[in-house]
Amino acid sequence: MSRLRERTTPCDEFRRLARRVTLLLAAEATKDLPVAETEVDTPLERARVRRLSSRVVAVPVLRAGLGMLDAFLELVPQAEVGYFGLERNEETAEARRYYEKVPKDLASAVVFLLDPMLATGGSAQMALDGLGGLGAVQVRLLSIVSAPEGVAHLSEVAPEAIIFTAALDRGLNDRKYILPGLGDFGDRLFGT
Ligand code: PRP
Ligand code: URA
Repeated sequence: MSRLRERTTPCDEFRRLARRVTLLLAAEATKDLPVAETEVDTPLERARVRRLSSRVVAVPVLRAGLGMLDAFLELVPQAEVGYFGLERNEETAEARRYYEKVPKDLASAVVFLLDPMLATGGSAQMALDGLGGLGAVQVRLLSIVSAPEGVAHLSEVAPEAIIFTAALDRGLNDRKYILPGLGDFGDRLFGT
């Protein structure tokens, strides 16, 4: 987290670190998923093993959430993947949805919304509304840096969503950026 925050950290290192933090978050957020017992043959004998038994859907929020997707799929390779494209207006900080392609009938799935920054919570609320409209009832948000304002907002408008975050920061500035934060995650990830 210290190198992710540091303003001089170059893009390639930023990507590696985003991936590493996401692996840790994803391990925590998936550890109670239901498993089913089964058996496999090792070279020596039968072994009882456990496999994930629930349907898992990962939904990265474009753009910045793309920096979390590979790590999530490394841990849960069988996950289905959907996308929401959301962008905050630079003046008002209000989110606008410009793209959506998400698997349907989400009632049976555990859905992992991947968005590294939870600032005002407007983007996450929009994504959670969209997922709710597709039937999702179990949604977990994986965020790398969160502001208390965003957490409070989501606990009001979407109390059933569970938030996993690597850092809970101090607050927002007047442009709705997280302090101390790490700046604009999408710009740092993609070098824009
Ligand atoms: C960032 C971030 C979140 C959103 C958080 O995306 O990835 O989606 O801001 O802010 P909020 O909680 O106040 O809604 P941004 O709109 O900058 O788009 P980008 O990923 O394309 O850079
Ligand atoms: N989006 C970002 O990328 N950074 C912030 O601090 C807030 C929203």
